[in-house]
Amino acid sequence: MQARGPLMIEHRLIERMLAAVKGVLGKVQSEHTIDPVLVDKAVDFIRVYADRTHHGKEEDILFRKLDNKPLIAEDRRAMKELIEEHVFGRKTTQALVDANHRYRNGDEAALADIVEKLQILIEFYPKHIEKEDKVFFPSSRNYFTDEEDQAMLAEFREFDRKMIHEKYKSLVEGLEMSRIPISAGP
Ligand SMILES: [Fe+2]
Ligand SMILES: [Fe+2]
Repeated sequence: MQARGPLMIEHRLIERMLAAVKGVLGKVQSEHTIDPVLVDKAVDFIRVYADRTHHGKEEDILFRKLDNKPLIAEDRRAMKELIEEHVFGRKTTQALVDANHRYRNGDEAALADIVEKLQILIEFYPKHIEKEDKVFFPSSRNYFTDEEDQAMLAEFREFDRKMIHEKYKSLVEGLEMSRIPISAGP
């Protein structure tokens, strides 16, 4: 398998998630209500899988290696644009988290914000994926030898191996931080 293989496989799961969210949105718009836990699940997928695990491999490994290659102007511009889109995705996800927090606390008007942010993600993300799959990944492959590409694939595997541990370590740390101090007594 080429190094871009796992990235493209991950794109397929991200697409399935987006399609599932789209299905939920249809129901939300007719019923004017959403389960905040469902939004939490979508956010967890976006943050841990799509952003940390997937964008992590793109930015920390692929893009970093490409940065040291003599990229033609068009490829360098494309890489910059992809990074900017990752940032946009993160900001939109944060806004979604904020809207979900408000909704959960009884602000019904926040539902429109939740729908808007999810719609933005559904519309923007497939275009980002298509750009990578059809244009950027094929052209970036030309900058690596077969050996370099296979070494990158091994780095991707190693990166993935750490992710499950990172996720649950941060969950435990979050719980430790939110611990309510026990009173020392009277
Ligand atoms: Fe990307
Ligand atoms: Fe990607």
